Amino acid sequence: MVKKAMKKKKFYVTTPIYYTNASIHLGGAYTTIAADVLARWHRTLGEDVFFLTGTDEHGQKIQEAAEQNKQTPKEFVDKIVAEFKEAFKLLNISNNNFIRTTDVYHEQEVKDLLNILYKKKLIYRGFYESLYCVGCEQYLTQADLVDGKCPLHNRIPELKKEEAYLFKLSSFQKKLHGLIKTGKYKILPEVRRKEILNFIDCGLQDISISRLKEKISWGIELPFDKKHCAWVWPDALWNYVSGLRQTGKENYKKFWPADVQLMAKDILRVHATIWPALLLGAGYKLPKSLFIHGYFTIGGQKMSKSLGNVISPIYLTKTYGADSVRYYLMRNLPFGSDGDVSEKGLVDRHNNELADKLGNLVSRTTALAEKYGVKKTKNTLLKQLKLKQIEKEMQDLEVDKALNSIFAFVDSCNEYVQSKKPWETKDTKVLYEVIDSIKSIAILFWPFIPETSEKIAKNLGFEIKYENVEKNLDYRSIKKAEILFKKIEGTAEKVIKTVEQNINKLEKFVKKEAKQIAGKIEGVIGMTEIINYEQFSKTDLRVGTIKKVEDVEGADKLLKLEVDLGKEIGKRTILAGIKKYYKKDELKEKQIIVVVNLEPRKMKGMESQGMLLAAVSEDESKVILIKPKLSVDSGTRVEFKDG
Ligand code: MSP
Repeated sequence: MVKKAMKKKKFYVTTPIYYTNASIHLGGAYTTIAADVLARWHRTLGEDVFFLTGTDEHGQKIQEAAEQNKQTPKEFVDKIVAEFKEAFKLLNISNNNFIRTTDVYHEQEVKDLLNILYKKKLIYRGFYESLYCVGCEQYLTQADLVDGKCPLHNRIPELKKEEAYLFKLSSFQKKLHGLIKTGKYKILPEVRRKEILNFIDCGLQDISISRLKEKISWGIELPFDKKHCAWVWPDALWNYVSGLRQTGKENYKKFWPADVQLMAKDILRVHATIWPALLLGAGYKLPKSLFIHGYFTIGGQKMSKSLGNVISPIYLTKTYGADSVRYYLMRNLPFGSDGDVSEKGLVDRHNNELADKLGNLVSRTTALAEKYGVKKTKNTLLKQLKLKQIEKEMQDLEVDKALNSIFAFVDSCNEYVQSKKPWETKDTKVLYEVIDSIKSIAILFWPFIPETSEKIAKNLGFEIKYENVEKNLDYRSIKKAEILFKKIEGTAEKVIKTVEQNINKLEKFVKKEAKQIAGKIEGVIGMTEIINYEQFSKTDLRVGTIKKVEDVEGADKLLKLEVDLGKEIGKRTILAGIKKYYKKDELKEKQIIVVVNLEPRKMKGMESQGMLLAAVSEDESKVILIKPKLSVDSGTRVEFKDG
């Protein structure tokens, strides 16, 4: 009798597709790494996995960014997309497809979708009036505003009032409520499910899904009215279908619906309402679950371009290696909760956990095994590995906890080595147990730190698959492993520490200086420049006098300043984002304080040769230049004291 082959389980995971109005930042890398961890985990289990990520390239925000850069939207997004791809490659992201909403295939898919909905009369022509935040590319209600502004982007929303095509979202209200309540459309964690049920209880309104082309032309033209373009959200959401189907109908049949869709809370509403409504309207099955992970801050502050504390994942990966970045981000905050990340935190975990504990375990054990050999025996150490718990944690998407549990086993192995002292006893059975346990660790760690796991697997000669975790493998000879994680110490560590201290001091200094002038001070402008410059271990602050002020072509925020910094330094060009806050005349002959020991930075084709000190008020409405208390000679050094 021919046995029917067991159907392989499938797993389809998605990330949001990221806006291409600016370079990739750590937030997008975080979600993508998490999705990669899940994809790899399911691959080790032997499942068929499809992992989709990509970029969201249409809409007002991107059109405006391109205009500011004096580029066509397509030229502009192409450059940014290349950066995204570079970052994902550096981070070893193993996505199966990268969808771009400007792909012709995708554009046709969106047109087909809109046609279906139009024919079903779920899209109709009308008039629309609502508040709109371009930062979010989302509609807001009065209740969403804090002091009349979008709390996420700190800007006053626009009132959109125009002829438009509307989608009958209201007609899905009852159905969606039921599906979410009963868990058929699963929203995790629970607090997010409750939040969205409350939101739906307040009533779903029909929404505009189009924009007049004469206003926003960077979008997909409506197939039934050439005067309009599709609003960016239906276009973007459809990527989860089109990006899969683009790889073939077979794949679509096999993998739809998505199993887990990852995102942060900023885009939960659209994913819990418009997204399932589009699918239901067009007759598609709904994804099985949405998982809303936490939002992180950087060094205690919201990551924002105006605060200048946006950390580039490309910089981090090039500096510390993909595995350390992946490990740190996944371990540092509970998946699903908010938290904080910092470069210093990354270095600490790299040194204390990856280098000292994991790296050391592997190098000392393989060195001893090379010297004394190993003898196969029952691996009693493996009892301490909480495999069932790890499986459950991964199943429940508690990736940080799973990582903790795996690491607990690394600790157990180190303790075992310490207590058995194989360097004295030359006990080849003990060495076998530890080597065999390292194999289990490497398999379990592969989703998180694939480069390291693969090095271990190559060295010890085993295949990375889940069934090998508890299978005691045969080993004959073992070679000492290469160093897995070089410690970041000496100068590098010192530099980071001093940079951090300097940033803190500088921040305190600026806040104190600006106190008399402004209300609440949120941060210091230009911090990225410092954070990204390793050599910034000493703050050289000088008084400068502004001699010339000019506009910068194609930039509505920047001013080009020529600053006299005295005999020793001479004149420097500084590009500063203060145009909105100061008139050109006001700045002439004004004395300011400049950080002069930074690498020059290219902006808009010009070189900015320093950073001026300025504080930005909490609502970003005011920027205050820090000036010396008395008028002094240009070039005078400024010292700041602690506190
Ligand atoms: N283009 C839309 C999504 C369309 S999906 C059909 C968009 N893009 S975005 O570039 O703004 O990315 C938002 C997502 O980036 C968040 O949902 C989250 O996944 C990730 N993050 C951005 N900043 C983050 C943090 N500070 N912390 C954690 N994740 C962050 O919205």
